[in-house]
Amino acid sequence: MSIIIIGAGAHGQNLATVFDAMAVPVVGFLDDTKPISTSVIGRPVLGGFACLEQPGFAHGQSFAVGLGHPARRLAVAARVIAAGGRVETAVHPLAALSPYAHVGVGCYVPAFCRISPGARLGSGVLIESGTMIGFEAELGDGATLGLSVTVVARSQIGAGCFIGAGAVVGAVRIGAGCIIGAGAAVVRDIPAGQRAYGVPARPVGPADWSRSPV
Ligand SMILES: CC(C)(COP(=O)(O)OP(=O)(O)OC[C@H]1O[C@@H](n2cnc3c(N)ncnc32)[C@H](O)[C@@H]1OP(=O)(O)O)[C@@H](O)C(=O)NCCC(=O)NCCS
Repeated sequence: MSIIIIGAGAHGQNLATVFDAMAVPVVGFLDDTKPISTSVIGRPVLGGFACLEQPGFAHGQSFAVGLGHPARRLAVAARVIAAGGRVETAVHPLAALSPYAHVGVGCYVPAFCRISPGARLGSGVLIESGTMIGFEAELGDGATLGLSVTVVARSQIGAGCFIGAGAVVGAVRIGAGCIIGAGAAVVRDIPAGQRAYGVPARPVGPADWSRSPV
């Protein structure tokens, strides 16, 4: 198996280092913002996202999607599948992944994370180093967690949420599509589609996905 990574920015480059650690060859990146043949951490940009629809390009090929925006990441993964490609999951050998946890297709789990028994990560979940997922916690499809987030046992994080670096999620339910600020302590449920931050975290308005929270 060899991998093409979609997105050559920070997330794509981090993904490449995970596949390097897994001894899976990364042949290059697809990126709409960098010219073809640009070298990114030693691998070439092969073209833009439109390559996916070129006849024969994606069929049977493995991809990983390195985009930070949850909805965009899921949409591009769906594009890969529609084009006949496979979306792979990246789990760094230095991640403490319980064999009794579920990690969905296309998830990204870097070094120094812990995924506890009974935890369930949906498809396309992206977490950063230092993030700890507690016993039986649930993360919906596309949930995106920054560096060193602590998700306490049995927390529920809805699909497409973004949780900023260093936040603590304390056995509560965060509805789908929320943006939780860096350093927040989430000790009460947050309704879907809200933006919340602070200690304790309080909703301050609707999540604005037109600006990247990352
Ligand atoms: C919450 C966030 C998405 C921005 O939300 P926002 O409502 O658009 O925030 P604004 O930048 O407009 O700031 C509005 C106010 O909220 C405050 N604020 C913003 N983020 C905050 C946070 N995480 N905690 C506490 N206060 C925060 C600002 O200081 C500002 O206060 P002021 O009005 O008194 O000056 C962003 O600040 C954030 O925390 N992003 C996460 C970044 C991150 O962790 N990335 C991952 C790295 S691995």
